[in-house]
Amino acid sequence: MKIIRTPSPGVPESGTIPTQPSPSPPPADSWPVLVVDDDPDILAITRLALKDCRFSGRPVCLYFAQSAKEALEIYHRVPEIALALVDVVMETDDAGLRLVQTIRNDLNNHTIRLIIRTGQPGHAPERMVIDTYDIDDYKDKTELTASKLYTTVRSALKSFRDLKMLQQSRHGLEMVLRAAPGMYLHPVDQPDKFFLEALGQIIRLCESTCTFLEPASTKHRNIIGFLAILNNRETLEIRARWKWDESDNAKLQMLTEELPKIKTTQAGLVLAEGHVMLPLLVHHNILGIIYLENITNISENERCLLEVYAVQCAGAMENLRLYEALAAANRNAMRMLAVAAEFKDTETGDHVKRLARQTVETALELGFSQETAQEMGRASVMHDIGKIGVPDAVLLKPGPLTKDEFEIIKTHPGIGASILAEDSNFKMALDVALSHHERWDGTGYPMGLKGEEIPLPARIVAVVDVFDALVSDRPYKKAWSVMEALEEIKRGAGTHFDPQVVEAFLRTHRNRREKRGQMEASAPSTQGKDDPKFPRSKR
Ligand SMILES: [Fe+2]
Repeated sequence: MKIIRTPSPGVPESGTIPTQPSPSPPPADSWPVLVVDDDPDILAITRLALKDCRFSGRPVCLYFAQSAKEALEIYHRVPEIALALVDVVMETDDAGLRLVQTIRNDLNNHTIRLIIRTGQPGHAPERMVIDTYDIDDYKDKTELTASKLYTTVRSALKSFRDLKMLQQSRHGLEMVLRAAPGMYLHPVDQPDKFFLEALGQIIRLCESTCTFLEPASTKHRNIIGFLAILNNRETLEIRARWKWDESDNAKLQMLTEELPKIKTTQAGLVLAEGHVMLPLLVHHNILGIIYLENITNISENERCLLEVYAVQCAGAMENLRLYEALAAANRNAMRMLAVAAEFKDTETGDHVKRLARQTVETALELGFSQETAQEMGRASVMHDIGKIGVPDAVLLKPGPLTKDEFEIIKTHPGIGASILAEDSNFKMALDVALSHHERWDGTGYPMGLKGEEIPLPARIVAVVDVFDALVSDRPYKKAWSVMEALEEIKRGAGTHFDPQVVEAFLRTHRNRREKRGQMEASAPSTQGKDDPKFPRSKR
């Protein structure tokens, strides 16, 4: 294969072409141009005419081939050729035209600029070629002076650059648009994952849109940075890192000092000395920033894309914050209601807190994910919410209840379910409130559900609720020891309780004991106990 690549100085002697076994990659910041002609003189003249050719501050890097076959080999080895000047008659009468077809149709490259340059227009009439082949220009060699060639190449490179910028803008916009719905649908209880994904998206966007300017450069493959949010003390707190050394707090300090300026000017992307600071602004408030290093040459299009992305990201962050605030307010309202119901019964709100903790531990022991276990914990807090609808005279009656009074007590699961049915977000809490007095053998209330008919969260809460009531002091009874209460739970496996839940619950206690060296085995008090037949907590 006879291939030469400039820009190396000198013109090959007429009729001879220096050979190069394999084309080397173009230097960074250059425009690769492929010249295909079987006439060595034409190649030499072209080299001379284009030797100082520059466009947009970047030199042209020439690759030469003397046949369509050689041209294709170079094409496959040199990334992103901007322009090919193609002769028609080479190894065959239509070799150049076939090369054009291959590049456009088989290789599906519609960005490279293709100019037919023929010395035998009779073999390829201009009108026919223009109409039939997807080329960008047609030139007769006899008319193409050095000066016209220079102009033609510059014009083709401009067209290539504009096309690439359009392509990249479209690609970037697609990335932003594709990322947007995902940001809004992100689980609210995993904010750090959200921040990392948001940062990852913007890095990918930068890598995708910025590399064009420096195709052979590795600069953009080494983008580092972080996403930081503004905390209550008005300082930046890093929430996601990208290959960032977390010990570099000086940068955070510097960026924090920049924030008032951004707040005043409502500035968008700030680019300086290879770094980018992208403020995340919502309603003129700064929620945080994305800071990236090793980025240069950001064009106006890229700047716009990054700013659009930052707006989306800030919007999603605000959405996340509002959603979390709303969910927290909802949870707090229900927790307060649950505590109120609990105070009405036992004069302590601590029961529900212990219940939530032990429910989570048991759910985890049963193999549920942290997320589901936490949801069960939140649901457990509301298990006795229906007691708010039970008259004090019955609920607080000291001593045994009459049959009728117990029937009234038995309404609290239904009342709780009615309260929780108001909001579909409390489906699990509703199941727990309605079914925590069901028994594994079907003798519970209110519906007499049996075995796995009882929702699993309710089966867990049933165990934890009874246990906590047994080990707690109440006005009408003293607390049992932990060991006594565990024995009672164990006795209830298969009748009152789901045996698998009991096993898991006991394992949580064993694990805790092992961890604390038996220290947890003692109860808050071991003095006395009431008749376990109908302890008040089981009502
Ligand atoms: Fe209850």
